[in-house]
Amino acid sequence: PSSITADPLVGAIDQGTSSTRFLVFNARTAEVVSQHQVEIRQRFPKEGWVEEDPKEILQSVYDCMERTCEKLTQLGTDISNIKGKCTHAHVSVNISIGVSNQRETTVVWDKETGEPLYNAIVWLDLRTQSTVEKLIEKTPDKNKNYLKDKTGLPISTYFSAVKLRWLIDNVEEVADAVHTGCAVFGTVDTWLIWCLTGGKNGGVHCTDVTNASRTMLFNIHTMEWDLELCKYFDIPHQILPEVRSSSEIYGYMKGGSLAGVPISGCLGDQSAALVGQMCFKDGQTKNTYGTGCFMIQNTGVKPVMSDHGLLTTIAYKLGKDKPAYYALEGSVAIAGAAVRWLKDNLGIIKSSSDIEKLATAAGTSYGCYFVPAFSGLYAPYWEPSARGIICGLTQFTNKSHLAFAALEAVCFQTREVLDAMNQDSGVPLTKLQVDGGMTANKLLMQLQADILCIPVVRPTMSETTALGAAVAAGLAEGVCVWALHPHGLTSVTAEKYQPQINKEGENLQRQ
Ligand code: G3P
Repeated sequence: PSSITADPLVGAIDQGTSSTRFLVFNARTAEVVSQHQVEIRQRFPKEGWVEEDPKEILQSVYDCMERTCEKLTQLGTDISNIKGKCTHAHVSVNISIGVSNQRETTVVWDKETGEPLYNAIVWLDLRTQSTVEKLIEKTPDKNKNYLKDKTGLPISTYFSAVKLRWLIDNVEEVADAVHTGCAVFGTVDTWLIWCLTGGKNGGVHCTDVTNASRTMLFNIHTMEWDLELCKYFDIPHQILPEVRSSSEIYGYMKGGSLAGVPISGCLGDQSAALVGQMCFKDGQTKNTYGTGCFMIQNTGVKPVMSDHGLLTTIAYKLGKDKPAYYALEGSVAIAGAAVRWLKDNLGIIKSSSDIEKLATAAGTSYGCYFVPAFSGLYAPYWEPSARGIICGLTQFTNKSHLAFAALEAVCFQTREVLDAMNQDSGVPLTKLQVDGGMTANKLLMQLQADILCIPVVRPTMSETTALGAAVAAGLAEGVCVWALHPHGLTSVTAEKYQPQINKEGENLQRQ
């Protein structure tokens, strides 16, 4: 990038399930100026359990920030463009950082010592399956949607409330700290903001509405923690963070190269991708392929309840006095994680990107189907007891077919949530905007277009999650460094994959 030194910059933390990134954007052009990425170790202490170390997550954020700043310095950029003041619209303003994060993942720590009291229980974790089954059993009509009117969510292992309940019931240190008033709860955004703004020395204990809406303790209509829900899950509401908008100054960085910089954006990663894809209008939809795969449709300022197994969730609230926007969401638990499984557990590829070559070599799965229900099935089924299967094997089946079937599995799951979304909205989507790491796989993109029978559109700048967090940070009151209004970013270039087969399965290219 040539003009980086003069322009205002915005930083974004993208803390996902599999990796952490810190990116710095040019706030005028939305260009990525510098970035660094670190993988996060996942632990599987028992079958179905998935944990991560909160301190490793925090350290990965610091490491990414420091490396990114070093790279900026090497590029000849003065990082005071991030740290200091700049002039925009004739006002002297600060430049800031946004946070986007894996959602639902649950952390409890001691606010006096600053130490986590257990590993983070990751959203994919299934240890609460029996608790969830008992809770559903006790509802009138054994209805998993019993709390949906308030929360927009089915009772599921996915959301934070049951994970937090498990921690209080099963980890003595957590129970004791709750008893003495030292315990605090947070999703990953909360943990990071608390630590980055000073931790036990005055760290800010907050979350934003998008993350709060994934806990099952938040009322998506009143936009507050719901005491009845807290009672239902037996969670002391004093341990919950303050809920803020997605775009305002929460606090200031303490320590490191960026000390003093305001943190002024916070969005769950799927909401951040929606913002980064500039889906600000009713009906606009994006699908992000990460560890899981999440299709989100902006439904405007009124919540729409799904009749077809989708979630109702908060999309964003870009300012204290701005309205909250809602979304319908089709969550698929396993997408990139299926590829990681082929790599880590079966060893049939050395790096995740190898899957494209391997699958292309087969060109078909030869009737082999892979249902990667490692963490049960999410939308539209919400069935925690489901488990993965690979079927249709013959002696002819080889690793290339399996690789192809894994990519098809991602596309078929997406097709199911798209069908649900079309039924709920009544207006079939005519194209799908996609992003996330897996979208670099051209075979996957073509398969997706073929399986959906609509074009798939991928922005050439694929870091849309981080861009969304940066937009939220840059738009915050008192900051306003996002020189380009997000609506003006429609010029971002994109690649389009046209379906090559029709609904009847005929190859359009041969016709
Ligand atoms: O709800 C879980 C989601 O936020 C995780 O996103 O990018 O880590 O797959 P990702």
